Amino acid sequence: MAKTKIVYFCKECGAEFPKWFGKCTECGVWGSASEEKLIQGSGSKTGSYVSNSKSKPILLADIKNDTSTRKPTSLGEINRVLGGGVVEGSLILLGGEPGIGKSTLLLQMVLSTTDTKCLYVSGEESPQQIKLRADRVGSQNNNCVVYPETSVDAIIEELRTNKYDMAIIDSIQTVYSSGLDSVVGGVSQIRESAVNLLKFSKESNIPIFLVGHITKEGTIAGPKVLEHIVDVVLQFEGDPNTSYRILRALKNRFGSTSEIGVFEMRSEGLREIMNPSEILLNRYDESLTGIAVGATIDGIRPYLLEVQALVSPVAFGMPQRSTTGFDNRRLNMLLAVIERRLGYKMIAKDTFINIAGGFKVKDTGLDLVVIAAILSSLLDFSLPNDICFCGEVGLSGEVRPAPRTEYRISEAARLGFKSIVVSKYYKIEKFSQSLDIKIIQISKVEQLVKTVLGNS
Ligand code: TYD
Ligand code: MG
Repeated sequence: MAKTKIVYFCKECGAEFPKWFGKCTECGVWGSASEEKLIQGSGSKTGSYVSNSKSKPILLADIKNDTSTRKPTSLGEINRVLGGGVVEGSLILLGGEPGIGKSTLLLQMVLSTTDTKCLYVSGEESPQQIKLRADRVGSQNNNCVVYPETSVDAIIEELRTNKYDMAIIDSIQTVYSSGLDSVVGGVSQIRESAVNLLKFSKESNIPIFLVGHITKEGTIAGPKVLEHIVDVVLQFEGDPNTSYRILRALKNRFGSTSEIGVFEMRSEGLREIMNPSEILLNRYDESLTGIAVGATIDGIRPYLLEVQALVSPVAFGMPQRSTTGFDNRRLNMLLAVIERRLGYKMIAKDTFINIAGGFKVKDTGLDLVVIAAILSSLLDFSLPNDICFCGEVGLSGEVRPAPRTEYRISEAARLGFKSIVVSKYYKIEKFSQSLDIKIIQISKVEQLVKTVLGNS
């Protein structure tokens, strides 16, 4: 007879405990206990799906390097993030907040090819809803099969009997494995289902995409172990109030994690944005103060963005300092640097910073451009629209080289900027010198005022 057992899992790390706990002794997180009922049948153990393949040990030197196992998808931005394409037999987890566009992204990926036979398993939406979405984004693919099923065993059976090139499980939280009789969406069930799908993908060489929900804290719902099981973890992020979305790899067993993909959500689905700078930069007809262009980088992808600043006299006692898309504490530090090194009374000013386009940036290489925008607003001086900035500013007002400055310089030159202000401590590479852009080097913020703003 099947035995029922109550166990407690940590929702963060997936550790299993026989008793309820306040603090997980494995990962140290408080209040992460999740009670689950396990009905243990005869064959019930983790990874209950039995693989058919008989693998043998192989000498490393004898293993052939087969590049054809990486298949590019129809969306260039996904290929970029995956490192060229989808590797055969890989298990890819796509995480993101509800409504950010995960289902749209994956559906669009399969529908824009003509030859990929894909099984789209949906435990969240009905086939009619998927059809509506497919009509919206447009389809060229007559080989996409929709399967409203939540049993992992049935899904694997379907994949095994009818040959597919790819499978999408939307989402991993809605499927269950019969080997384990615990609650659907629970830690043990998610882990069990993922392990079974992993075994199958490795044995059959079919790549499988899993959609995973994100908790309020920003981690993929279910245990962290899910991230250890899969080969690639992708995250789809963006502010739901703006239309831009960024796809990034948090883990990639087959490539780097430094590339990002940029998309725009439109009424007819997602549009790939090959050149993020073009949507982030505005060319104004008249000169405006408080605007400066910064050369930033996300992973290894450089792009240019517009920083807007407004400095105005304090309305009430305490100065207001508020930012959109930029770190507030970093702004406070930069204002202290301006006050101390340049002598402007920032304590008597309200300062607002906005990164145009709704992008959120963490790059310290934008310090210099933020200072330039603040000074432009403070001194009511408009910057030429063909100059951009990159550099990190230290507490002594020194300008340090921003990471990967050479990439930023090339991007600025490519977009037709005439000059870029960088740190004096950055050693200009030979190939940057040949670019059609003037590189202005400064060592202190004081020089920014003199050389660039033409003010002393
Ligand atoms: P969806 O892919 O369902 O998100 P997720 O799977 O991550 O929960 O995307 C839902 C949102 O995307 C929804 O709020 C509407 C919007 N959307 C568009 O703006 N245009 C479109 O063509 C589609 C299909 C969705
Ligand atoms: Mg969805």
